[in-house]
Amino acid sequence: MTGQEGNKLWGGRFAGSTDPIMEKFNASISYDKRMWDADIRGSKGYVKALQKAGLVSQEEMEKIAQGLDKISGEWAAGTFAIQPFDEDIHTANERRLKELIGDTAGKLHTGRSRNDQVVTDMRIWLRDAISTLKGDIMQLISTMLERAAAHAVALSRDTDHLVEIRRRVNILPLGSGAIAGNPFKIDRELLRKELSFDDVSINSMDAIGQRDFVAEFLFWASLCLTHLSKMSEDLILYTTKEFSFVSLSDAYSTGSSLMPQKKNADSLELIRSKAGRVFGRCAGFLMTLKGLPSTYNKDLQEDKEAMFDCYDTLHDVFQVARGVISTLTINPRVMEAALSPDMLATDLAYYLVRKGVPFRDAHGCSGKAVSLAESKNIPVNQLTLEDLRTVSPLFDSDVSVVWDYTSSVEQYSAPGGTARSSVSAQIQHLRDWMKASGN
Ligand code: ARG
Repeated sequence: MTGQEGNKLWGGRFAGSTDPIMEKFNASISYDKRMWDADIRGSKGYVKALQKAGLVSQEEMEKIAQGLDKISGEWAAGTFAIQPFDEDIHTANERRLKELIGDTAGKLHTGRSRNDQVVTDMRIWLRDAISTLKGDIMQLISTMLERAAAHAVALSRDTDHLVEIRRRVNILPLGSGAIAGNPFKIDRELLRKELSFDDVSINSMDAIGQRDFVAEFLFWASLCLTHLSKMSEDLILYTTKEFSFVSLSDAYSTGSSLMPQKKNADSLELIRSKAGRVFGRCAGFLMTLKGLPSTYNKDLQEDKEAMFDCYDTLHDVFQVARGVISTLTINPRVMEAALSPDMLATDLAYYLVRKGVPFRDAHGCSGKAVSLAESKNIPVNQLTLEDLRTVSPLFDSDVSVVWDYTSSVEQYSAPGGTARSSVSAQIQHLRDWMKASGN
């Protein structure tokens, strides 16, 4: 064995050394070090199962646990020194354990493989990340409920979906070994309790080779960002000079380096753009999964950057979106000024419907009235009763009530509609949902 391979935890069967470019290509430590806490928690649970199975003594278990606590302290303090041959977080922690407690460290990996370790770490990491994201999204929904409820409905579905995904994330793969399970009568139920999982995976080959939970999370992130992208697009349009329905606060806008007058809705444009980024992560990872044979393949190492990136993106997006929504100014007068009588053409048709005309015919009559007003170059509400009667004899002087925007909105009082009572009921529904969802 060359000197270099002696540094590797799997170096026994190797005579030649690894090409430095391969070394770099193979390593995941630069990003999977984020899972240091999950990795140590997993190992602390595992050593208890080893002790129960008689593979380490009580004393050895305590020594290993103390060493792991020390490593945890180093990571937390930022003093853990990654070494050139630390391939990933699992090998780095084990290498350090050996430095701290000597050869007893070598017993920790008995019957365990990095294959079940990595997927256990990811599930521990992701369930915590999901709790953070749930908190973020609930705060955003709560801000939306204070300002306007429409987009919050989609986000409430996203929250329910996220909670469902967590159930499927929280299944313990540890004890699956590299491929075939564990030969040392490891108590997986003990592991499950120690590591706070809801259930234990059924089949070892499936447990180490599947990443359904990652794919589901990436899809969830994509769908959620589709909703936020739609909201951003609505708001970007409404913040333009031409609309000016809403104004963004300076805190969430940027200027133009060339055009001094400009206020750019960069916060919203960036949120809209992140949907593309996250879709890419999701599609890319599904491509990685497609065509893989059973059990663990190194291709699966690609799962982590996709998962971390989507988490980081969503975590930022939720906070920026909340800031944007809580600080934007709504300009009702500009909105009112943008109302035009032709928007009430459907109401004109409904007037006839209420007099017994079939909707299809009423629609045709209203269309004719709009066309008549256009030919006279006047707004539709300025047609005289005589004009309207050329379209339908059922029009009467009470037709003037149609041209009131407030009563027009108020007629949509069925659940889900735009009447004030309907919107209030929708907001109340979301508030009740928030309470039931634990916020
Ligand atoms: N760093 C690896 C990963 O992220 C850990 C599992 C290594 N297993 C293996 N058979 N090479 O997937």
